[in-house]
Amino acid sequence: MNILLLGSGGREHAFSWKFSQSSLCEKLFIAPGNAGTATCGTNVALNIKDFEQIKSFVLENEINMVVVGPEEPLVLGIYDFFKNDLDLKNVPVIGPSEEGAKLEGSKAFGKVFMAEQNIPTAAYEEFDGTKIEEGLKYIATQTPPIVLKADGLAAGKGVLILPTIEEAQKEFKEMLGGKFGNAGSRVVIEEFLDGIEFSVFVLTDGKSYKILPIAKDYKRIGENDEGLNTGGMGAVSPVPFVDKVLMDKVEERVIKPTIKGIQERGFDYKGFIFIGLIRVNNEPYVIEYNCRMGDPETEVVFPRLKNDLAQLMKAVGDGTLENKQIEIDERAATTMFLVSGGYPEAYEKGKEIKGIEAIEDSIIFHGGTKNVDGKLLTNGGRVIAVTSFGKDFKAALEVSKKNAEQIDFEGKYFRRDIGFDL
Ligand code: AMP
Ligand code: GLY
Repeated sequence: MNILLLGSGGREHAFSWKFSQSSLCEKLFIAPGNAGTATCGTNVALNIKDFEQIKSFVLENEINMVVVGPEEPLVLGIYDFFKNDLDLKNVPVIGPSEEGAKLEGSKAFGKVFMAEQNIPTAAYEEFDGTKIEEGLKYIATQTPPIVLKADGLAAGKGVLILPTIEEAQKEFKEMLGGKFGNAGSRVVIEEFLDGIEFSVFVLTDGKSYKILPIAKDYKRIGENDEGLNTGGMGAVSPVPFVDKVLMDKVEERVIKPTIKGIQERGFDYKGFIFIGLIRVNNEPYVIEYNCRMGDPETEVVFPRLKNDLAQLMKAVGDGTLENKQIEIDERAATTMFLVSGGYPEAYEKGKEIKGIEAIEDSIIFHGGTKNVDGKLLTNGGRVIAVTSFGKDFKAALEVSKKNAEQIDFEGKYFRRDIGFDL
C-alpha cells in the first residue's frame, strides 16, 4: 500500500523508519517531512492544513492510507473531510474525527469527558470571558500552586502553574484578555497534583484497544527539570516505577472508561490516544489527553514495538485491531534530543550538523533538519534525537549520551540527566 504521513518532527521520522521496515508499505510519502524522513520515503511539500491540496495529492498518487502525526490536522477535522468526500471516503485516515480530537483540542471538553466516565483527574472549574469575577473569586479559594490551562491548542504553552493567588489572578485575566489568542477564550482552573508523570499510548479502532509501551518524557529545558517547558528533551521506555499494580489501575480506571466514553459519545476514533498521567500516592490521575503519539516518546516507543506498523495501522483502519497482538522488545530504550542554542525561546537555524555518519550503536531520528546543497543543516529547535537500547534505561542512556557528544552543530545543547528521577 501507498502511505501518506503528515508531519515533520522526530515523531514522524520514527513513523517513517517503522514504515520503511514494513513489507506492506510500497511507497511512503511524508508531508512536509525533514532530512531524516527523506531517507525512508519521499518528502512532499504539502500544507498539512490544506485538505484540498492533500486530496489532490492522495488521488494523483494512489494513496491507500493517511497517517497523521501532529494534532492540528485532526483538530481541524481531516478525518471528517475524508469521510465526507466521495472520492476519499475509502482512504482511511489514522487519527480521530474532529469530535474525538476534542479530547486534546479542548481542555474543558477533556475534563467533562473524564467526569462523565469517573476517570480520576484533578478537580477543576472552567470560566470564560463572561465569568471573570467568578474566576477570580474561585482562585482566591484555592491553595497554591494554581494550575491554569488555556482551553484550546496553544502549542504546548497553554498551561501555567502559578505559585501565588495574586499571580494566578493576573495570569487568568491576561489569558481571558487574549494572551493565547482564541485558545484562551476559556480557561480551566485546576487543582495542582504533586507526583511523578508518565505517558501511556493506546491504539484503538473504536471497538478494541491495544496498549503500546509506556514512556516518560522530560519537558523542561534545564537539568533537574528546571527552566522553561519544551516539546520534550528526552524520553525513556519502559518506566521503572510503572509496575503491574499501577498499570492495572490505569487500564481499569482510565483506559477502559476512555474507550467506553468514546463509544457512548459515538465518536469515530481510529488512531492513537496519548494519556498523560501522574502518579500520586501510587494512584494514577489523568493530566491530559492527546489525540496523537508524543514527541519524543515515539522515538522510544516505536523502536520497542516489534509489530509491523503498517499492518497495525491497516487493522485500525479496517476495524480489525482485536486480532492483533502487540509485541514488545524487552530492552529499555532512551532518547536524548539535541536542540538549538536558545530553544525554547529564539534560536538560529541553518547550522551545519556533523558527526552523524559515524554513529553506529544509536538510532538517529531527525527533528528540525534539512538538506541544502549536500549539507545537513539545523531547521528547528529540536534537531536530532539520539535513541539507544540497553538492558536497562541506565545502560541505554550511557550509549545515547556518548553519541550525543559525537554529533555537533553550533549552539548544540542537550540534557545529560534524562532519567535522573527514576
Ligand atoms: P499539559 O499541556 O496539559 O501536558 O500540561 C503541561 C504540564 O503541566 C504537564 O506535563 C504537567 O507537568 C503540568 N501539569 C498540568 N496539569 C497539572 C496539574 N493538575 N497538577 C500538576 N501539574 C500539572
Ligand atoms: N512530549 C509531549 C508531547 O508530545 O505532547
